[in-house]
Amino acid sequence: MPKSKGSFLRALLGISAAIGWTWSACGYADSIRSVSSEVCQTCHKEIYKQWKGSMHAQSTALEDPIHATFYKKVVGDPLAEGVKMKNGKYPVCLQCHAPNAAIAKQTKLDSDVTYSEGVNCVACHTLKTYKGITAPGGKLRLGMMAYETADSLQGPAGFNRGLQKLTAANDMFGGAPADDSDVPNPHLGEGVTMNGKQIPSLPMESNAGLMKSNAACMGCHDKRNNSHGVPLCATGNEYMVSKSDVTCQYCHMPMVDNEADHSMGGGHDGGMLKRSIVFTMDTKANGGKLLVTAKLKNQQPHALPTGAPFRNIVFKLMAYNSSGDLIWENAPEHPAKDDPQAYFAYLLADDAGKDAMPPTATQLGADTRLRPHEERELAYEIPADGVALIRGEVHYNLLWKVLADQFKHLPQDLRDSRVIAVAENVL
Ligand code: HEC
Ligand code: HEC
Ligand code: HEC
Ligand code: HEC
Ligand code: HEC
Repeated sequence: MPKSKGSFLRALLGISAAIGWTWSACGYADSIRSVSSEVCQTCHKEIYKQWKGSMHAQSTALEDPIHATFYKKVVGDPLAEGVKMKNGKYPVCLQCHAPNAAIAKQTKLDSDVTYSEGVNCVACHTLKTYKGITAPGGKLRLGMMAYETADSLQGPAGFNRGLQKLTAANDMFGGAPADDSDVPNPHLGEGVTMNGKQIPSLPMESNAGLMKSNAACMGCHDKRNNSHGVPLCATGNEYMVSKSDVTCQYCHMPMVDNEADHSMGGGHDGGMLKRSIVFTMDTKANGGKLLVTAKLKNQQPHALPTGAPFRNIVFKLMAYNSSGDLIWENAPEHPAKDDPQAYFAYLLADDAGKDAMPPTATQLGADTRLRPHEERELAYEIPADGVALIRGEVHYNLLWKVLADQFKHLPQDLRDSRVIAVAENVL
């Protein structure tokens, strides 16, 4: 809609204000929480596309096959109402994985589009204040329970532009910065029309303090324990160790075309993974041996890998002869068995100290991941005879090998390892 038609639109808006467009009049329930991301897509096309491809849009058991596998085992059917956990309580998972369902205390995730959308636009953009994940008594309050939420959208800049409102009260753009797309602004207290579609009023408040800080993420990304008190994901705690002032947004929401990117890549994102590590390698001949030094440097203020406990990294070192035949390798099967220094993982254990799954673990096992900003050196001695080239590869896995082997129902790409860094030394 060109701005030159402003007066026409102002007239239109006047009418709309007079007849009082509300969420319900437009077929929406009367709460901002019930506004689907599809509505936001009308105007925020690029951000919608980025979000839609992210794990936030696929965070429920209806969309994420790895989450679904655990949810169904530990909690129950995502298509049933009234589902309770073993302790008789509302499924805590939904506080983070289906935040709008959690606020409505519902468990049938296909019963409303804002439930099945998972961590959608409104879930994040109504977070008002972060209370922290530890309630006064010491119990954890996770996900949405860690926040006060608002009935208005929260923006990093916001539209409480008092001065512009005084001077441009009738400007439908409300003094919003010039926007080449000429999109009408529904965040100024009135509904608008866009391509013949009625958009309800989506009031916006300024909340730079939350939106531009780690507080926008920590309710869901700080520590989470299983029912035995064993920490499963702990990205936030890892951060405290590194005492970093760099916000999550700097890396996970870089500015692209003047707008914060909402793709929020992590372990599912090949590009983020390539960036996560600096891997260099050096080989020296010493008598009949080759001395290989591999350096792996974690670039993040959180662990590498971070997040879900079953994320892990495997380092593979191989020696080839001049015809390209493999003549030596560090771990022909799995490094956990053959070369423990080449396995970067967060292991969980049962009472007997044996490997355990996240729901049943009663204590932590070994944590061999790279700590925040850690550089680790691995040293190898390889028989030099016939070696023409040394190749090192860093492999990232979403799942422990035991799970990748067991969960045959999962798409292959989630079970396969991904090479995230390579180095070669030619002799
Ligand atoms: C996981 C939380 C989260 C989700 C989901 C989310 N946002 Fe955001 N959004 C943020 C944060 C945090 C910022 C502020 C980034 C900054 O400025 O540092 C932001 C910024 C924005 C901005 C301002 C961009 C700019 O840089 O000017 C727009 C517009 C926006 N979001 C729209 C949306 C829409 C539309 C959706 C759904 C398709 C959405 N957001 C989903 C967290 C989220
Ligand atoms: C009818 C079009 C339209 C729809 C629909 C719409 N917006 Fe916006 N939105 C705008 C315009 C216009 C701006 C101002 C852009 C600018 O700064 O030039 C904006 C800005 C924003 C900002 C940035 C505010 C800031 O602080 O910088 C956020 C966040 C945002 N919208 C979120 C949403 C969410 C979430 C939805 C869905 C619930 C939504 N918008 C639906 C038109 C729309
Ligand atoms: C309402 C809870 C919630 C908030 C707030 C939230 N997230 Fe998430 N986030 C999730 C959930 C749940 C997932 C996992 C979805 C899945 O894999 O099933 C996720 C996934 C991610 C991933 C991808 C992990 C992967 O497996 O690839 C990244 C990166 C991420 N979030 C970053 C952020 C950042 C940065 C912020 C703050 C700007 C943020 N999140 C805010 C709940 C949230
Ligand atoms: C210096 C850049 C940087 C900063 C700052 C950063 N991250 Fe990351 N993050 C990454 C990279 C790169 C990866 C991929 C490698 C990995 O999984 O560790 C990643 C991975 C993740 C994942 C994926 C975990 C999974 O299970 O796949 C989550 C979740 C995440 N980060 C959350 C956060 C949160 C929350 C913050 C702020 C407290 C934050 N990150 C700060 C770069 C960063
Ligand atoms: C405090 C918020 C929170 C709670 C509560 C929570 N999760 Fe998550 N979950 C996350 C986040 C954030 C991620 C993705 C990033 C990461 O790996 O840390 C995730 C990732 C996962 C993954 C990995 C998904 C993938 O794509 O690989 C599984 C499985 C999972 N959660 C299962 C559950 C189950 C089952 C419950 C309930 C018993 C639950 N989660 C409760 C925040 C939460």
